[in-house]
Amino acid sequence: MAPRGLTVLVVGSGGREHALAWALSRSPSVSRVLVAPGNGGTTTIAENLPIAATDIPALVATAREHRVDLTVVGPEEPLARGLVDAFQEEGLLAFGPTAAAARIEASKAWAKDVMRAAGVPTARATIVSDLDQARTALTAFSYPLVVKASGLAAGKGAVIANDRHEAERVLHWMLVERGLGSAADQVLIEEFLVGREASFLVVTDGETVVPLQPARDYKRLGDGDTGPNTGGMGAYAPVPDVSPELQQQILERIVVPTLEEMRRRGIVYRGVLYAGLMLTAEGPKVLEFNCRLGDPETQVILPLLGSDLAALLLVATRGTLHEIGTLHWYPGVAVTVVLASGGYPGTYRTGLPIAGLDDVPNDVLVFHAGTRRDDGQIVTAGGRVLNVTAVAPTFAAARKRVYTAIESIRFPGMTYRRDIALAEVAMQATPFAERE
Ligand code: AMP
Ligand code: GLY
Repeated sequence: MAPRGLTVLVVGSGGREHALAWALSRSPSVSRVLVAPGNGGTTTIAENLPIAATDIPALVATAREHRVDLTVVGPEEPLARGLVDAFQEEGLLAFGPTAAAARIEASKAWAKDVMRAAGVPTARATIVSDLDQARTALTAFSYPLVVKASGLAAGKGAVIANDRHEAERVLHWMLVERGLGSAADQVLIEEFLVGREASFLVVTDGETVVPLQPARDYKRLGDGDTGPNTGGMGAYAPVPDVSPELQQQILERIVVPTLEEMRRRGIVYRGVLYAGLMLTAEGPKVLEFNCRLGDPETQVILPLLGSDLAALLLVATRGTLHEIGTLHWYPGVAVTVVLASGGYPGTYRTGLPIAGLDDVPNDVLVFHAGTRRDDGQIVTAGGRVLNVTAVAPTFAAARKRVYTAIESIRFPGMTYRRDIALAEVAMQATPFAERE
């Protein structure tokens, strides 16, 4: 009898988790993929379990019941609430940082303190906890500036203020009206950085660091980076302006010192460390750290990964990541475009039927984000609904595949950005020597 492959459990329900379940289901070492709770897309490649991503006791019980070899946690909230700690106590393997390590995302105030101690370049910030402190702190900043809740705020925690009036309004909303609840017990007033953004993610066991392909996501709702911030409207990878030299610099000046400083504080960071960077004229600076894979960055990183994902995550979880060697990446680029519900990131309707999914060509991947299966019909179930994704030799070719496929998909109110990776098409058309 052939040896049993790994049983893996993916925790979460978005596009990132569909991409994780998809990549794990293709891993040669995996024989069974479970997702809790999953979505309308994950059911086609894995088994959905009706357990909320934050129901840690139920996840522990199900991991035991199904003899799960490795649990892979998508979102930050279960990590910050101690999912990995709870699994460790039960002798179960879960990929991701402990609650203490997840503070790098769950407390921006603490993350700033780690960066300051480690000498990591980041936006200058002052931490305040009431309006009087905030008013005093404002005098030391020019505009625009950024007001950020220290705690987890599901993408709503960072607001750019263009003048003192706006800054005071946001600070009042966070600190007095408590618009974000306890997430804004502490608030950062932060210098506004100028440049292009990049998401630089590494897998680490606290010692060995394995970088993933750099990605770029699009946070604003509208074309040309207009409109409100969202969870992410599209992404591409790799990022040509994050050169191998720049990647080395990011590792040496940002990632490694941050991990070392955490170790100095008694915290071994295992999982994905995601550095949200601004590529400024003075070099890369940290905007934020996340304690997990990005969404929608994962949807462009994983389709490029040629190595066995489960094997990678397993050795990282065991603390033997050095065994993995260098990762294999497919040549080419990946582009993903988010199809969102009309009204997102504000209020929107759900339960709307999605048509045309069967007409999408085989060379296009559709990762479901906010969908569910309703009597055999796929219907919308969230703000970000689908991630239409393609890998191709060039950004122009990947964009063409994605946007052609989108033409066959329909649901009432469907909105999306038309300019994902468009800037890279213009760049690729420019001879290298003439760039910048
Ligand atoms: P964060 O939640 O810290 O990643 O912030 C969300 C988004 O706000 C970032 O992706 C940036 O687009 C923007 N942002 C955050 N901090 C800054 C900053 N210091 N300067 C300029 N833009 C920022
Ligand atoms: N794409 C941004 C994030 O995952 O936080």
